[in-house]
Amino acid sequence: MTFNDSSRYNRDRQSVTRRILGYMLPYKWRIALSMLASLGVSGTDIAIAKLVQPFVDKLVVAGDMNTAKIVPIVIISLAAVKGFSRYFQEYFIRTGGQLVVQNIRDELFHHSVILSIGFFSKTSSGTLMSRILNDVAVLQNALAVILVGGLRESLTLVGLTAVAFYADWKMALMAFVVLPLAGGPAIWIGNKIKQYSRRGQHAMGILTTILEQTFSGIKVIKAFGGEHRESEKFRQENLSYYRFFRKMVKYDSITSPFIEIISSFGVAGIVFYGMHRVISGQMTQGELFSIMTAIFLMYTPVKRMTRVNNVLQQAIGAAERIFEILDERPEITDVPGATVLERVRGEVSFEHVDFAYQDELVLKDFHITAMPGEVIALVGPSGAGKSTAASLLARFYDPSAGRILFDGHDIKYATLDSVRANIALVDQETFLFNDTIENNIRYGRPDASEKDVLRAAELAFSHEFINDLPEGYQTKIGDRGLRLSGGQRQRICIARAILQDAPILILDEATSALDTKSEAMVQKALGNLMQNRTTFVVAHRLSTIMHADKIVVLEAGHIREIGTHQELIDKGGIYCRLYEMQ
Ligand SMILES: Nc1ncnc2c1ncn2[C@@H]1O[C@H](COP(=O)(O)OP(=O)(O)OP(=O)(O)O)[C@@H](O)[C@H]1O
Ligand SMILES: [Mg+2]
Repeated sequence: MTFNDSSRYNRDRQSVTRRILGYMLPYKWRIALSMLASLGVSGTDIAIAKLVQPFVDKLVVAGDMNTAKIVPIVIISLAAVKGFSRYFQEYFIRTGGQLVVQNIRDELFHHSVILSIGFFSKTSSGTLMSRILNDVAVLQNALAVILVGGLRESLTLVGLTAVAFYADWKMALMAFVVLPLAGGPAIWIGNKIKQYSRRGQHAMGILTTILEQTFSGIKVIKAFGGEHRESEKFRQENLSYYRFFRKMVKYDSITSPFIEIISSFGVAGIVFYGMHRVISGQMTQGELFSIMTAIFLMYTPVKRMTRVNNVLQQAIGAAERIFEILDERPEITDVPGATVLERVRGEVSFEHVDFAYQDELVLKDFHITAMPGEVIALVGPSGAGKSTAASLLARFYDPSAGRILFDGHDIKYATLDSVRANIALVDQETFLFNDTIENNIRYGRPDASEKDVLRAAELAFSHEFINDLPEGYQTKIGDRGLRLSGGQRQRICIARAILQDAPILILDEATSALDTKSEAMVQKALGNLMQNRTTFVVAHRLSTIMHADKIVVLEAGHIREIGTHQELIDKGGIYCRLYEMQ
Protein backbone atom coordinates (compact mmCIF):
# COMPACT_ATOMS: atom_id res chain seq x y z
CA MET A 1 0.00 0.00 0.00
CA THR A 2 1.46 3.36 -0.95
CA PHE A 3 1.22 6.36 1.32
CA ASN A 4 -1.56 7.84 -0.78
CA ASP A 5 -3.61 4.68 -0.63
CA SER A 6 -3.29 4.45 3.09
CA SER A 7 -4.18 8.07 3.68
CA ARG A 8 -7.18 7.70 1.43
CA TYR A 9 -8.11 4.57 3.31
CA ASN A 10 -7.93 6.45 6.59
CA ARG A 11 -9.96 9.31 5.21
CA ASP A 12 -12.62 6.90 3.95
CA ARG A 13 -12.75 5.19 7.28
CA GLN A 14 -13.07 8.50 9.05
CA SER A 15 -15.83 9.61 6.77
CA VAL A 16 -17.73 6.37 7.38
CA THR A 17 -17.45 6.91 11.13
CA ARG A 18 -18.47 10.52 10.73
CA ARG A 19 -21.50 9.50 8.71
CA ILE A 20 -22.58 7.03 11.37
CA LEU A 21 -22.15 9.78 13.96
CA GLY A 22 -24.35 11.99 11.81
CA TYR A 23 -27.17 9.48 12.16
CA MET A 24 -26.68 9.55 15.93
CA LEU A 25 -27.04 13.30 16.23
CA PRO A 26 -30.86 13.35 16.55
CA TYR A 27 -30.59 11.08 19.56
CA LYS A 28 -27.91 13.05 21.35
CA TRP A 29 -30.05 13.46 24.49
CA ARG A 30 -30.58 9.77 24.95
CA ILE A 31 -26.89 9.26 24.41
CA ALA A 32 -26.03 12.04 26.84
CA LEU A 33 -28.33 10.56 29.52
CA SER A 34 -26.73 7.22 28.99
CA MET A 35 -23.28 8.75 29.35
CA LEU A 36 -24.38 10.35 32.58
CA ALA A 37 -25.57 7.00 33.87
CA SER A 38 -22.36 5.35 32.83
CA LEU A 39 -20.57 7.78 35.13
CA GLY A 40 -22.40 5.97 37.93
CA VAL A 41 -21.25 2.58 36.73
CA SER A 42 -17.64 3.61 36.32
CA GLY A 43 -17.78 5.66 39.50
CA THR A 44 -18.69 2.66 41.61
CA ASP A 45 -15.86 0.62 40.12
CA ILE A 46 -13.46 3.43 40.87
CA ALA A 47 -14.88 3.81 44.40
CA ILE A 48 -14.33 0.10 45.02
CA ALA A 49 -10.70 0.41 44.02
CA LYS A 50 -10.30 3.46 46.25
CA LEU A 51 -12.08 1.91 49.27
CA VAL A 52 -9.93 -1.19 49.30
CA GLN A 53 -7.19 0.77 51.03
CA PRO A 54 -9.09 1.83 54.22
CA PHE A 55 -10.77 -1.57 54.22
CA VAL A 56 -7.50 -3.43 54.39
CA ASP A 57 -5.59 -0.95 56.57
CA LYS A 58 -8.31 -0.14 59.14
CA LEU A 59 -10.27 -3.38 59.20
CA VAL A 60 -8.10 -6.27 58.28
CA VAL A 61 -4.89 -4.89 59.75
CA ALA A 62 -6.06 -2.57 62.60
CA GLY A 63 -9.39 -4.31 63.40
CA ASP A 64 -11.44 -1.05 63.74
CA MET A 65 -15.02 -2.15 64.61
CA ASN A 66 -16.60 1.26 63.96
CA THR A 67 -15.57 1.08 60.32
CA ALA A 68 -16.77 -2.53 60.17
CA LYS A 69 -20.35 -1.39 60.92
CA ILE A 70 -20.63 0.77 57.84
CA VAL A 71 -19.14 -1.80 55.49
CA PRO A 72 -22.46 -3.64 54.75
CA ILE A 73 -24.19 -0.31 54.04
CA VAL A 74 -21.41 0.73 51.69
CA ILE A 75 -21.58 -2.61 49.85
CA ILE A 76 -25.34 -2.44 49.36
CA SER A 77 -25.33 1.25 48.37
CA LEU A 78 -22.59 0.72 45.84
CA ALA A 79 -24.45 -2.23 44.33
CA ALA A 80 -27.65 -0.15 44.15
CA VAL A 81 -25.98 2.83 42.52
CA LYS A 82 -24.20 0.60 40.05
CA GLY A 83 -27.36 -1.39 39.29
CA PHE A 84 -29.59 1.61 38.60
CA SER A 85 -26.90 3.40 36.63
CA ARG A 86 -26.35 0.34 34.49
CA TYR A 87 -30.07 0.02 33.86
CA PHE A 88 -30.47 3.62 32.65
CA GLN A 89 -27.26 3.49 30.72
CA GLU A 90 -28.29 0.39 28.78
CA TYR A 91 -31.90 1.45 28.32
CA PHE A 92 -31.10 4.83 26.79
CA ILE A 93 -28.19 3.74 24.68
CA ARG A 94 -29.87 0.66 23.29
CA THR A 95 -33.12 2.36 22.41
CA GLY A 96 -31.10 5.22 20.93
CA GLY A 97 -28.97 2.80 18.93
CA GLN A 98 -32.05 1.03 17.66
CA LEU A 99 -33.63 4.31 16.54
CA VAL A 100 -30.44 5.20 14.67
CA VAL A 101 -30.53 1.86 12.90
CA GLN A 102 -34.25 2.10 12.13
CA ASN A 103 -33.61 5.40 10.40
CA ILE A 104 -30.74 3.97 8.39
CA ARG A 105 -32.93 1.04 7.36
CA ASP A 106 -35.82 3.32 6.38
CA GLU A 107 -33.49 5.53 4.39
CA LEU A 108 -31.89 2.55 2.71
CA PHE A 109 -35.26 1.17 1.65
CA HIS A 110 -36.53 4.53 0.47
CA HIS A 111 -33.33 5.20 -1.41
CA SER A 112 -33.42 1.77 -3.05
CA VAL A 113 -36.95 2.16 -4.42
CA ILE A 114 -36.06 5.59 -5.78
CA LEU A 115 -33.15 4.25 -7.82
CA SER A 116 -33.80 3.89 -11.53
CA ILE A 117 -34.86 0.71 -13.30
CA GLY A 118 -31.35 0.41 -14.75
CA PHE A 119 -29.93 -0.12 -11.26
CA PHE A 120 -32.28 -3.02 -10.64
CA SER A 121 -31.31 -4.77 -13.83
CA LYS A 122 -27.68 -4.86 -12.68
CA THR A 123 -28.25 -5.54 -8.95
CA SER A 124 -30.04 -8.67 -7.78
CA SER A 125 -32.91 -8.14 -5.42
CA GLY A 126 -31.31 -10.65 -3.05
CA THR A 127 -28.25 -8.43 -2.74
CA LEU A 128 -30.39 -5.45 -1.91
CA MET A 129 -32.48 -7.39 0.57
CA SER A 130 -29.33 -8.57 2.26
CA ARG A 131 -27.99 -5.04 2.65
CA ILE A 132 -31.25 -3.83 4.12
CA LEU A 133 -31.68 -6.80 6.46
CA ASN A 134 -28.28 -8.35 7.24
CA ASP A 135 -25.86 -5.47 6.98
CA VAL A 136 -28.13 -3.22 8.96
CA ALA A 137 -28.45 -5.99 11.56
CA VAL A 138 -24.66 -6.19 11.89
CA LEU A 139 -24.54 -2.44 12.34
CA GLN A 140 -27.34 -2.68 14.87
CA ASN A 141 -25.57 -5.23 17.07
CA ALA A 142 -22.35 -3.35 16.72
CA LEU A 143 -23.82 0.00 17.72
CA ALA A 144 -25.23 -1.51 20.91
CA VAL A 145 -21.87 -2.98 21.84
CA ILE A 146 -19.87 0.08 20.85
CA LEU A 147 -22.11 2.60 22.55
CA VAL A 148 -22.74 0.65 25.73
CA GLY A 149 -19.32 -0.93 26.02
CA GLY A 150 -17.12 1.75 24.55
CA LEU A 151 -18.52 4.50 26.73
CA ARG A 152 -18.50 2.61 30.00
CA GLU A 153 -15.12 1.04 29.51
CA SER A 154 -13.38 4.23 28.52
CA LEU A 155 -14.79 6.12 31.52
CA THR A 156 -13.84 3.31 33.86
CA LEU A 157 -10.39 3.19 32.37
CA VAL A 158 -9.83 6.91 32.85
CA GLY A 159 -11.03 6.80 36.47
CA LEU A 160 -9.03 3.76 37.42
CA THR A 161 -5.94 5.14 35.77
CA ALA A 162 -6.34 8.28 37.86
CA VAL A 163 -6.70 6.21 41.04
CA ALA A 164 -3.65 4.16 40.21
CA PHE A 165 -1.50 7.19 39.35
CA TYR A 166 -2.68 9.06 42.42
CA ALA A 167 -1.80 6.09 44.64
CA ASP A 168 1.61 5.48 43.17
CA TRP A 169 2.60 6.87 39.81
CA LYS A 170 5.70 4.73 39.47
CA MET A 171 3.79 1.51 39.83
CA ALA A 172 0.95 2.75 37.63
CA LEU A 173 3.44 3.65 34.95
CA MET A 174 4.84 0.15 35.18
CA ALA A 175 1.38 -1.23 34.43
CA PHE A 176 1.06 1.07 31.46
CA VAL A 177 4.41 0.54 29.84
CA VAL A 178 3.36 -2.87 28.57
CA LEU A 179 0.07 -1.75 27.06
CA PRO A 180 1.42 0.02 23.97
CA LEU A 181 2.92 -3.34 23.02
CA ALA A 182 -0.63 -4.55 22.50
CA GLY A 183 -1.62 -1.57 20.36
CA GLY A 184 -0.17 -2.59 16.98
CA PRO A 185 -1.45 -6.18 17.02
CA ALA A 186 -4.87 -5.00 18.21
CA ILE A 187 -5.20 -2.74 15.15
CA TRP A 188 -4.04 -5.55 12.91
CA ILE A 189 -6.64 -7.87 14.41
CA GLY A 190 -9.32 -5.22 13.96
CA ASN A 191 -8.51 -4.94 10.26
CA LYS A 192 -8.63 -8.69 9.81
CA ILE A 193 -12.01 -8.78 11.45
CA LYS A 194 -13.35 -6.04 9.24
CA GLN A 195 -12.11 -7.85 6.16
CA TYR A 196 -13.68 -11.20 7.11
CA SER A 197 -16.84 -9.54 8.29
CA ARG A 198 -17.22 -7.86 4.91
CA ARG A 199 -16.64 -11.12 3.11
CA GLY A 200 -19.09 -12.86 5.43
CA GLN A 201 -21.69 -10.23 4.65
CA HIS A 202 -21.05 -10.74 0.95
CA ALA A 203 -21.66 -14.47 1.41
CA MET A 204 -24.83 -13.59 3.29
CA GLY A 205 -25.91 -11.54 0.28
CA ILE A 206 -25.44 -14.57 -1.97
CA LEU A 207 -27.46 -16.67 0.48
CA THR A 208 -30.30 -14.18 0.39
CA THR A 209 -30.17 -14.13 -3.39
CA ILE A 210 -30.48 -17.92 -3.48
CA LEU A 211 -33.42 -17.75 -1.09
CA GLU A 212 -35.17 -15.11 -3.11
CA GLN A 213 -34.59 -16.94 -6.40
CA THR A 214 -35.56 -20.33 -5.05
CA PHE A 215 -38.87 -19.31 -3.59
CA SER A 216 -39.88 -17.14 -6.51
CA GLY A 217 -38.83 -19.79 -9.01
CA ILE A 218 -40.09 -22.77 -7.07
CA LYS A 219 -42.25 -24.00 -9.95
CA VAL A 220 -39.34 -24.13 -12.36
CA ILE A 221 -37.15 -25.80 -9.75
CA LYS A 222 -39.71 -28.51 -9.16
CA ALA A 223 -40.60 -29.00 -12.80
CA PHE A 224 -36.96 -29.50 -13.71
CA GLY A 225 -36.11 -31.51 -10.61
CA GLY A 226 -33.69 -28.92 -9.23
CA GLU A 227 -34.52 -29.28 -5.52
CA HIS A 228 -31.37 -31.15 -4.57
CA ARG A 229 -29.17 -28.99 -6.73
CA GLU A 230 -30.57 -25.88 -5.06
CA SER A 231 -30.12 -27.38 -1.60
CA GLU A 232 -26.53 -28.22 -2.40
CA LYS A 233 -25.90 -24.71 -3.72
CA PHE A 234 -27.38 -23.28 -0.56
CA ARG A 235 -25.37 -25.62 1.64
CA GLN A 236 -22.14 -24.60 -0.10
CA GLU A 237 -22.81 -20.90 0.31
CA ASN A 238 -23.90 -21.40 3.88
CA LEU A 239 -20.63 -23.20 4.50
CA SER A 240 -18.69 -20.42 2.88
CA TYR A 241 -20.37 -17.99 5.27
CA TYR A 242 -19.24 -20.21 8.13
CA ARG A 243 -15.64 -20.05 6.89
CA PHE A 244 -15.58 -16.28 7.15
CA PHE A 245 -17.41 -16.41 10.44
CA ARG A 246 -14.86 -18.87 11.83
CA LYS A 247 -11.98 -16.61 10.80
CA MET A 248 -13.67 -13.68 12.46
CA VAL A 249 -14.23 -15.61 15.67
CA LYS A 250 -10.64 -16.77 15.58
CA TYR A 251 -9.30 -13.23 15.54
CA ASP A 252 -11.86 -11.95 17.98
CA SER A 253 -11.23 -14.71 20.50
CA ILE A 254 -7.51 -14.19 20.34
CA THR A 255 -7.85 -10.59 21.47
CA SER A 256 -8.51 -11.14 25.20
CA PRO A 257 -5.92 -13.85 25.85
CA PHE A 258 -3.41 -11.76 23.97
CA ILE A 259 -4.01 -8.71 26.16
CA GLU A 260 -3.98 -10.91 29.26
CA ILE A 261 -0.60 -12.35 28.44
CA ILE A 262 0.85 -8.93 27.67
CA SER A 263 -0.55 -7.49 30.86
CA SER A 264 0.79 -10.35 32.98
CA PHE A 265 4.23 -8.84 32.43
CA GLY A 266 3.06 -5.59 33.95
CA VAL A 267 1.32 -7.31 36.84
CA ALA A 268 4.34 -9.46 37.57
CA GLY A 269 6.55 -6.38 37.69
CA ILE A 270 4.17 -4.50 39.98
CA VAL A 271 3.72 -7.34 42.44
CA PHE A 272 7.45 -7.87 42.68
CA TYR A 273 8.23 -4.17 43.10
CA GLY A 274 5.25 -3.58 45.44
CA MET A 275 6.15 -6.43 47.81
CA HIS A 276 9.59 -5.00 47.98
CA ARG A 277 8.25 -1.58 49.01
CA VAL A 278 5.81 -2.97 51.60
CA ILE A 279 8.56 -5.03 53.20
CA SER A 280 10.91 -2.04 53.30
CA GLY A 281 8.09 -0.04 54.94
CA GLN A 282 7.68 2.52 52.12
CA MET A 283 4.07 1.48 51.54
CA THR A 284 1.20 0.03 53.62
CA GLN A 285 -0.40 -3.29 52.69
CA GLY A 286 -3.64 -1.38 52.04
CA GLU A 287 -1.95 0.91 49.55
CA LEU A 288 -0.52 -2.05 47.72
CA PHE A 289 -3.88 -3.82 47.55
CA SER A 290 -5.62 -0.64 46.44
CA ILE A 291 -3.28 0.01 43.57
CA MET A 292 -3.27 -3.63 42.59
CA THR A 293 -7.07 -3.67 42.53
CA ALA A 294 -7.08 -0.55 40.37
CA ILE A 295 -4.61 -2.11 37.98
CA PHE A 296 -6.45 -5.42 37.79
CA LEU A 297 -9.74 -3.62 37.23
CA MET A 298 -8.04 -1.48 34.64
CA TYR A 299 -6.97 -4.36 32.44
CA THR A 300 -10.57 -5.46 32.08
CA PRO A 301 -11.70 -2.27 30.28
CA VAL A 302 -8.56 -2.39 28.16
CA LYS A 303 -9.43 -5.92 27.15
CA ARG A 304 -13.03 -5.02 26.48
CA MET A 305 -12.09 -1.95 24.53
CA THR A 306 -9.93 -3.96 22.18
CA ARG A 307 -12.95 -6.14 21.53
CA VAL A 308 -15.08 -3.06 21.07
CA ASN A 309 -12.60 -2.07 18.39
CA ASN A 310 -13.20 -5.44 16.73
CA VAL A 311 -16.92 -4.80 16.71
CA LEU A 312 -16.31 -1.27 15.47
CA GLN A 313 -14.39 -2.65 12.51
CA GLN A 314 -17.27 -4.99 11.76
CA ALA A 315 -19.65 -2.04 11.92
CA ILE A 316 -17.49 -0.03 9.55
CA GLY A 317 -17.48 -2.94 7.11
CA ALA A 318 -21.27 -3.18 7.22
CA ALA A 319 -21.69 0.59 7.05
CA GLU A 320 -19.48 0.76 3.96
CA ARG A 321 -21.76 -1.74 2.24
CA ILE A 322 -24.80 0.26 3.31
CA PHE A 323 -23.32 3.55 2.14
CA GLU A 324 -22.45 1.96 -1.22
CA ILE A 325 -26.17 1.72 -1.88
CA LEU A 326 -26.96 5.10 -0.34
CA ASP A 327 -24.32 6.67 -2.58
CA GLU A 328 -25.85 5.25 -5.75
CA ARG A 329 -27.48 8.10 -7.60
CA PRO A 330 -30.64 7.47 -9.62
CA GLU A 331 -29.77 7.79 -13.30
CA ILE A 332 -33.14 9.20 -14.20
CA THR A 333 -34.04 12.21 -12.11
CA ASP A 334 -35.79 15.52 -12.35
CA VAL A 335 -33.46 17.98 -14.03
CA PRO A 336 -32.97 21.25 -12.10
CA GLY A 337 -36.00 23.40 -12.70
CA ALA A 338 -38.01 20.54 -14.19
CA THR A 339 -41.55 21.56 -15.07
CA VAL A 340 -44.68 19.82 -13.92
CA LEU A 341 -46.47 18.36 -16.88
CA GLU A 342 -50.23 18.83 -16.55
CA ARG A 343 -52.58 16.23 -17.98
CA VAL A 344 -51.68 16.14 -21.68
CA ARG A 345 -54.05 15.77 -24.62
CA GLY A 346 -51.97 12.88 -25.78
CA GLU A 347 -49.84 13.89 -28.74
CA VAL A 348 -46.75 11.75 -28.44
CA SER A 349 -43.68 12.09 -30.64
CA PHE A 350 -40.45 10.21 -30.73
CA GLU A 351 -37.97 12.49 -32.50
CA HIS A 352 -35.00 10.61 -33.94
CA VAL A 353 -34.56 8.60 -30.77
CA ASP A 354 -31.49 6.42 -30.27
CA PHE A 355 -31.21 4.22 -27.24
CA ALA A 356 -28.64 1.76 -25.87
CA TYR A 357 -28.77 -0.20 -22.61
CA GLN A 358 -25.02 -0.62 -22.71
CA ASP A 359 -22.97 0.05 -25.81
CA GLU A 360 -25.07 -1.42 -28.54
CA LEU A 361 -27.95 0.64 -29.89
CA VAL A 362 -31.28 -1.09 -29.34
CA LEU A 363 -33.33 1.64 -30.98
CA LYS A 364 -31.94 3.56 -33.93
CA ASP A 365 -33.44 6.78 -35.25
CA PHE A 366 -36.86 5.85 -33.90
CA HIS A 367 -39.17 8.53 -35.23
CA ILE A 368 -42.96 8.50 -35.03
CA THR A 369 -45.77 10.82 -34.01
CA ALA A 370 -49.08 9.77 -32.49
CA MET A 371 -51.97 12.23 -32.50
CA PRO A 372 -54.24 12.35 -29.45
CA GLY A 373 -56.53 9.33 -29.37
CA GLU A 374 -54.58 7.39 -31.96
CA VAL A 375 -53.66 3.77 -31.56
CA ILE A 376 -50.09 2.95 -32.52
CA ALA A 377 -49.17 -0.69 -32.82
CA LEU A 378 -45.57 -1.85 -32.52
CA VAL A 379 -44.88 -5.17 -34.17
CA GLY A 380 -41.75 -7.05 -35.01
CA PRO A 381 -39.68 -10.02 -34.00
CA SER A 382 -38.67 -10.74 -30.44
CA GLY A 383 -35.86 -8.49 -29.32
CA ALA A 384 -36.68 -5.84 -31.93
CA GLY A 385 -36.99 -3.14 -29.27
CA LYS A 386 -40.76 -2.87 -28.78
CA SER A 387 -40.71 -3.04 -24.98
CA THR A 388 -37.73 -0.73 -24.97
CA ALA A 389 -39.71 1.92 -26.82
CA ALA A 390 -42.49 1.50 -24.27
CA SER A 391 -39.99 1.88 -21.39
CA LEU A 392 -38.78 5.16 -22.84
CA LEU A 393 -42.32 6.52 -22.79
CA ALA A 394 -42.50 5.79 -19.07
CA ARG A 395 -39.06 7.40 -18.65
CA PHE A 396 -37.62 4.26 -17.14
CA TYR A 397 -34.67 5.32 -19.26
CA ASP A 398 -33.79 8.49 -21.13
CA PRO A 399 -32.93 8.33 -24.84
CA SER A 400 -29.23 8.41 -25.74
CA ALA A 401 -30.09 10.83 -28.54
CA GLY A 402 -33.24 12.51 -29.79
CA ARG A 403 -36.30 13.56 -27.80
CA ILE A 404 -39.66 12.28 -26.71
CA LEU A 405 -42.43 14.87 -26.57
CA PHE A 406 -45.85 14.79 -24.90
CA ASP A 407 -47.97 17.60 -26.38
CA GLY A 408 -44.73 19.19 -27.55
CA HIS A 409 -43.03 19.08 -24.13
CA ASP A 410 -39.75 17.19 -23.94
CA ILE A 411 -40.42 14.72 -21.13
CA LYS A 412 -36.78 14.85 -20.11
CA TYR A 413 -37.43 18.31 -18.69
CA ALA A 414 -40.65 17.40 -16.92
CA THR A 415 -40.78 15.92 -13.43
CA LEU A 416 -40.78 12.13 -13.34
CA ASP A 417 -43.96 12.07 -11.28
CA SER A 418 -45.84 14.21 -13.73
CA VAL A 419 -44.67 12.17 -16.72
CA ARG A 420 -45.75 8.96 -15.07
CA ALA A 421 -49.08 10.42 -14.01
CA ASN A 422 -49.78 10.80 -17.74
CA ILE A 423 -49.28 7.16 -18.60
CA ALA A 424 -50.85 3.88 -17.68
CA LEU A 425 -48.86 0.74 -18.34
CA VAL A 426 -49.78 -2.89 -18.71
CA ASP A 427 -46.49 -4.69 -18.88
CA GLN A 428 -45.43 -7.97 -20.39
CA GLU A 429 -44.78 -9.22 -16.85
CA THR A 430 -48.11 -9.18 -15.05
CA PHE A 431 -47.07 -8.32 -11.56
CA LEU A 432 -49.59 -8.35 -8.74
CA PHE A 433 -49.00 -7.58 -5.09
CA ASN A 434 -49.65 -10.01 -2.29
CA ASP A 435 -52.73 -8.03 -1.31
CA THR A 436 -56.47 -7.99 -2.01
CA ILE A 437 -57.71 -7.78 -5.59
CA GLU A 438 -59.28 -4.43 -4.83
CA ASN A 439 -56.02 -2.95 -3.60
CA ASN A 440 -54.23 -4.35 -6.62
CA ILE A 441 -56.64 -2.62 -8.96
CA ARG A 442 -56.45 0.70 -7.18
CA TYR A 443 -52.67 0.68 -6.85
CA GLY A 444 -52.24 3.64 -9.18
CA ARG A 445 -55.08 5.60 -7.56
CA PRO A 446 -55.29 4.61 -3.89
CA ASP A 447 -58.11 7.08 -3.30
CA ALA A 448 -60.38 5.75 -6.08
CA SER A 449 -63.94 5.02 -4.97
CA GLU A 450 -65.28 1.49 -4.81
CA LYS A 451 -67.58 2.32 -7.69
CA ASP A 452 -64.65 3.30 -9.88
CA VAL A 453 -62.80 0.10 -8.99
CA LEU A 454 -65.85 -1.94 -9.95
CA ARG A 455 -66.27 -0.09 -13.23
CA ALA A 456 -62.63 -0.61 -14.14
CA ALA A 457 -62.95 -4.30 -13.37
CA GLU A 458 -66.07 -4.54 -15.50
CA LEU A 459 -64.39 -2.81 -18.43
CA ALA A 460 -61.52 -5.26 -18.14
CA PHE A 461 -64.00 -8.16 -18.12
CA SER A 462 -62.78 -9.31 -14.76
CA HIS A 463 -65.78 -8.44 -12.60
CA GLU A 464 -67.40 -11.81 -13.19
CA PHE A 465 -64.53 -14.03 -12.16
CA ILE A 466 -63.67 -11.78 -9.22
CA ASN A 467 -67.24 -12.08 -7.97
CA ASP A 468 -67.00 -15.85 -8.17
CA LEU A 469 -64.02 -15.87 -5.81
CA PRO A 470 -64.81 -16.76 -2.19
CA GLU A 471 -64.16 -13.28 -0.88
CA GLY A 472 -64.75 -11.34 -4.09
CA TYR A 473 -62.73 -8.14 -4.31
CA GLN A 474 -61.33 -8.77 -0.86
CA THR A 475 -59.69 -12.03 -1.93
CA LYS A 476 -56.00 -12.01 -1.18
CA ILE A 477 -53.78 -12.89 -4.08
CA GLY A 478 -50.98 -15.25 -3.05
CA ASP A 479 -47.41 -14.21 -3.67
CA ARG A 480 -46.98 -13.26 -7.32
CA GLY A 481 -50.65 -13.92 -7.95
CA LEU A 482 -50.27 -17.67 -8.04
CA ARG A 483 -53.90 -18.25 -7.22
CA LEU A 484 -55.10 -16.69 -10.45
CA SER A 485 -54.79 -17.88 -14.01
CA GLY A 486 -52.51 -16.02 -16.40
CA GLY A 487 -55.45 -14.50 -18.25
CA GLN A 488 -57.13 -13.45 -15.02
CA ARG A 489 -53.98 -11.75 -13.87
CA GLN A 490 -53.70 -9.90 -17.14
CA ARG A 491 -57.24 -8.67 -16.81
CA ILE A 492 -56.57 -7.36 -13.30
CA CYS A 493 -53.53 -5.53 -14.65
CA ILE A 494 -55.71 -4.08 -17.38
CA ALA A 495 -58.28 -2.99 -14.78
CA ARG A 496 -55.48 -1.33 -12.84
CA ALA A 497 -54.43 0.58 -15.94
CA ILE A 498 -58.03 1.50 -16.78
CA LEU A 499 -58.54 2.94 -13.31
CA GLN A 500 -55.36 4.97 -13.65
CA ASP A 501 -57.28 6.93 -16.30
CA ALA A 502 -54.20 8.42 -17.95
CA PRO A 503 -54.17 10.06 -21.38
CA ILE A 504 -51.45 7.74 -22.66
CA LEU A 505 -51.89 4.00 -22.45
CA ILE A 506 -49.14 1.45 -23.03
CA LEU A 507 -50.16 -2.15 -23.55
CA ASP A 508 -47.18 -4.45 -23.88
CA GLU A 509 -48.50 -7.89 -24.76
CA ALA A 510 -51.39 -7.06 -22.48
CA THR A 511 -53.78 -9.58 -23.97
CA SER A 512 -51.37 -12.37 -24.90
CA ALA A 513 -52.64 -14.74 -22.21
CA LEU A 514 -56.30 -14.35 -23.07
CA ASP A 515 -58.32 -16.74 -25.19
CA THR A 516 -59.72 -15.42 -28.45
CA LYS A 517 -63.14 -14.77 -26.94
CA SER A 518 -62.03 -12.85 -23.88
CA GLU A 519 -59.44 -11.09 -25.95
CA ALA A 520 -62.16 -9.89 -28.29
CA MET A 521 -64.11 -8.64 -25.28
CA VAL A 522 -61.15 -6.94 -23.66
CA GLN A 523 -60.32 -5.43 -27.03
CA LYS A 524 -63.79 -3.99 -27.18
CA ALA A 525 -63.43 -2.59 -23.68
CA LEU A 526 -60.04 -1.18 -24.49
CA GLY A 527 -61.57 0.15 -27.67
CA ASN A 528 -63.96 2.30 -25.64
CA LEU A 529 -61.19 3.27 -23.36
CA MET A 530 -58.78 4.16 -26.11
CA GLN A 531 -61.09 6.75 -27.59
CA ASN A 532 -59.73 9.66 -25.60
CA ARG A 533 -56.29 8.24 -25.13
CA THR A 534 -53.21 7.71 -27.17
CA THR A 535 -52.45 4.03 -27.03
CA PHE A 536 -49.30 2.13 -27.80
CA VAL A 537 -50.00 -1.54 -28.30
CA VAL A 538 -47.32 -4.18 -28.56
CA ALA A 539 -48.62 -7.50 -29.79
CA HIS A 540 -47.40 -10.54 -31.56
CA ARG A 541 -50.88 -11.64 -32.53
CA LEU A 542 -51.59 -9.40 -35.51
CA SER A 543 -55.36 -9.83 -35.28
CA THR A 544 -55.14 -7.67 -32.15
CA ILE A 545 -53.73 -4.66 -33.89
CA MET A 546 -55.34 -4.76 -37.31
CA HIS A 547 -57.46 -1.72 -36.52
CA ALA A 548 -54.64 0.43 -35.24
CA ASP A 549 -54.27 3.87 -36.79
CA LYS A 550 -50.61 3.23 -37.46
CA ILE A 551 -48.69 0.02 -37.44
CA VAL A 552 -44.95 0.39 -36.88
CA VAL A 553 -42.86 -2.56 -37.96
CA LEU A 554 -39.63 -2.73 -35.99
CA GLU A 555 -36.67 -4.91 -36.77
CA ALA A 556 -33.42 -4.84 -34.80
CA GLY A 557 -34.20 -1.36 -33.51
CA HIS A 558 -34.97 0.13 -36.94
CA ILE A 559 -38.38 1.16 -38.18
CA ARG A 560 -38.90 -0.83 -41.37
CA GLU A 561 -42.47 0.08 -42.26
CA ILE A 562 -45.21 2.41 -41.06
CA GLY A 563 -48.82 2.41 -42.21
CA THR A 564 -52.32 1.12 -41.67
CA HIS A 565 -53.05 -2.57 -41.96
CA GLN A 566 -54.36 -2.14 -45.48
CA GLU A 567 -51.46 0.03 -46.61
CA LEU A 568 -48.93 -2.45 -45.32
CA ILE A 569 -50.72 -5.41 -46.87
CA ASP A 570 -50.84 -3.62 -50.20
CA LYS A 571 -47.17 -2.82 -49.92
CA GLY A 572 -46.37 -6.53 -49.62
CA GLY A 573 -43.39 -6.09 -47.27
CA ILE A 574 -42.41 -7.61 -43.92
CA TYR A 575 -45.80 -7.00 -42.34
CA CYS A 576 -47.59 -8.63 -45.23
CA ARG A 577 -45.43 -11.71 -44.93
CA LEU A 578 -45.94 -11.86 -41.13
CA TYR A 579 -49.68 -11.52 -41.63
CA GLU A 580 -49.83 -14.27 -44.20
CA MET A 581 -47.86 -16.58 -41.93
CA GLN A 582 -50.40 -16.11 -39.15
N1 LIG B 1 -32.41 -4.24 -19.20
C1 LIG B 1 -31.74 -4.54 -20.31
N2 LIG B 1 -30.41 -4.45 -20.34
C2 LIG B 1 -29.72 -4.73 -21.45
N3 LIG B 1 -30.28 -5.11 -22.60
C3 LIG B 1 -31.61 -5.22 -22.65
C4 LIG B 1 -32.42 -4.94 -21.50
N4 LIG B 1 -33.71 -5.15 -21.84
C5 LIG B 1 -33.70 -5.52 -23.13
N5 LIG B 1 -32.46 -5.58 -23.64
C6 LIG B 1 -32.07 -5.90 -25.02
O1 LIG B 1 -32.67 -4.96 -25.87
C7 LIG B 1 -33.16 -5.56 -27.05
C8 LIG B 1 -34.63 -5.19 -27.24
O2 LIG B 1 -35.38 -5.73 -26.18
P1 LIG B 1 -36.93 -5.50 -26.03
O3 LIG B 1 -37.33 -6.02 -24.72
O4 LIG B 1 -37.24 -4.08 -26.32
O5 LIG B 1 -37.51 -6.42 -27.18
P2 LIG B 1 -39.00 -6.69 -27.60
O6 LIG B 1 -39.15 -6.18 -28.98
O7 LIG B 1 -39.93 -6.16 -26.57
O8 LIG B 1 -39.05 -8.27 -27.61
P3 LIG B 1 -40.23 -9.26 -27.18
O9 LIG B 1 -41.17 -9.32 -28.32
O10 LIG B 1 -39.53 -10.56 -27.02
O11 LIG B 1 -40.83 -8.76 -25.94
C9 LIG B 1 -32.93 -7.04 -26.89
O12 LIG B 1 -31.82 -7.37 -27.66
C10 LIG B 1 -32.61 -7.25 -25.45
O13 LIG B 1 -31.65 -8.23 -25.27
MG1 LIG C 1 -41.12 -7.05 -25.12
